Amino acid sequence: MTVLPIVIAPDPRLLQKSAPVAAVDDDLRRLMDDMLETMYASNGIGLAAVQVGVHKRVLVMDIARGSDRYEGRDESKSQPLFLVNPQIVGESEEQNIYEEGCLSFPGNFGEVERPKQVKVRYLDYHGKEQLLEADGLLATCVQHEMDHLDGKVFVDHLSLVRRDMILRKMKKAKKQMQAEG
Ligand code: NI
Repeated sequence: MTVLPIVIAPDPRLLQKSAPVAAVDDDLRRLMDDMLETMYASNGIGLAAVQVGVHKRVLVMDIARGSDRYEGRDESKSQPLFLVNPQIVGESEEQNIYEEGCLSFPGNFGEVERPKQVKVRYLDYHGKEQLLEADGLLATCVQHEMDHLDGKVFVDHLSLVRRDMILRKMKKAKKQMQAEG
């Protein structure tokens, strides 16, 4: 498995819509394995393919393992989830607020309100249709990752002032990184 470079904002690739996957084959499984490895290496709990520059409707998550940010990290508790062509088929009226971060926005966080529970239909690692009934952090995570598939990022849910502040900060950090080579 390979740790892939993560696309860092601002980057036009993050604003592009991802295309549905036609077949879950070995090539796609290799991509999902690499995505999981990449997510673990960055201490994340979710990653969409677009974040490694691949515009396919694929995401990986692992809430059980957690992260330093959300209730600590426990590497003995790996429970990876692979979701292909995910679709929300139900959501609660009740909302939840989490302070979200994103591997494409390192060091930046913001409170986002989303439905507390969602039902998601998807194809798993083997191409089998599954239904995920997510609540709490898992529900927030899957909605955050699914936003990525439509070219949306978590800062789009924040106030314009907060969003612009984060984007300006990211732009500056990127310029600095490029200047340092
Ligand atoms: Ni993200």
